[in-house]
Amino acid sequence: METYDQGAQDRAQRMQWWHEARFGMFVHWGLYSQLGRHEWVMNRERIPLAEYEPLADSWQVKDRPAREWARLAKAAGMQYIVMTTKHHEGFCLWDTKQTDYNAVRRGPKRDLVQEFVDACREFGLKIGFYYSLMDWHHPDGTLCVKDEAARYRFLEFTRGCVRELMSNYGRIDILWYDVSWPLESPERWESAVMNQMVRELQPHIIINNRSQLPEDFGTPEEHITAAEAGRAWEACMTFNGSWGYMPYTLDEDWHSARAVVSMLRQCTAGGGNLLLNIGPKPDGSVPEPAIGRLQAVGQWLEKYGEAVYGSVDPASHPQLEWMPLGQFTRKGNAVYYWVSRWPGSALALGGFQSQLVRASLLGSNTALPFTQEPRRIVIQGLPADNPDGLPTATAVLKLEFASEPLQKLGAGYWLPEEV
Ligand code: GLC
Repeated sequence: METYDQGAQDRAQRMQWWHEARFGMFVHWGLYSQLGRHEWVMNRERIPLAEYEPLADSWQVKDRPAREWARLAKAAGMQYIVMTTKHHEGFCLWDTKQTDYNAVRRGPKRDLVQEFVDACREFGLKIGFYYSLMDWHHPDGTLCVKDEAARYRFLEFTRGCVRELMSNYGRIDILWYDVSWPLESPERWESAVMNQMVRELQPHIIINNRSQLPEDFGTPEEHITAAEAGRAWEACMTFNGSWGYMPYTLDEDWHSARAVVSMLRQCTAGGGNLLLNIGPKPDGSVPEPAIGRLQAVGQWLEKYGEAVYGSVDPASHPQLEWMPLGQFTRKGNAVYYWVSRWPGSALALGGFQSQLVRASLLGSNTALPFTQEPRRIVIQGLPADNPDGLPTATAVLKLEFASEPLQKLGAGYWLPEEV
């Protein structure tokens, strides 16, 4: 019991910055970026290895693109970046001794992981390494499932890669494993041993759940679903339906800044994080549709970030209910009402059973007049138009209650205890 509690306490400490950071950038960048047909293109089109491998030599990268990502992440209000050091295609973006199929030996002739790490440090962002366990290039990457000697070799390779990543770049904040095909159990991957090595090399690191062990956090993908109480989670979302660079999209295929704000609301309400992806162009530059949208999200966060960053409490039912004009997040006795459908100068909320002490708009210090009857709060003195302009058009009202906020509406017009 003592060890368990100690472990939980260590984890809480290790993860505090991550919980408070809320918002990170995912970067999918590799040989596949040159083709622009999704990072699974090698598998989906069954491209022969002899045809795919030359992409390692044709890959040309501009000068330190990671600085552009980091600058943009910072402007977007993101606090960390997770970059693909090796995706399923097997090409390593760092200076590895495990294979020559890497960015230092081939095309770019540079350690792209080192550049990424340097850029994050320059811009004050935490650093995450994505690493795909599945490997379509390594000769034992599939054979390992039915040949013990191949499994042994493949695990040596895998551990070698992870050891280098955890040893050669200073402090790394997050290890983000992906797809553990084809070995069917953590025992066969020997994940516990590998993660113990990782924790010895990087004692404060946060590890995700994709090495077939739960470790520190869950990773819902392309949907925002809170984990069970007490379990940390991070929703990873594409910007336009593909993780890797995908030029064949329409403008409306990209999540709008307003939609990203809404995702942030959903993650915050469930106490989770949002890891939003960009798939840079082959040369590393950020696709234009992502730039303006992320800048708008950053401007929004500058004004309304109080509702997002820091330690939050779940806003889930039965504490707080759904409302037609917006949705809630919560920090202790403060409720944040994210109003995305602005009704004009007055706004009403039913069912609050706690005493409202103060109402204000985030970004302005002025207290708003309000009335509170047993079944309804009416807030007045609001601007006629949504004070948050386009493109986000989501203003946040802060409602400070005297005690833990509790809202009860249910399905009926009267609550059973009221009649
Ligand atoms: C996946 C996909 C992959 C992507 C990732 C992001 O499992 O295979 O291409 O990198 O999830 O979460």
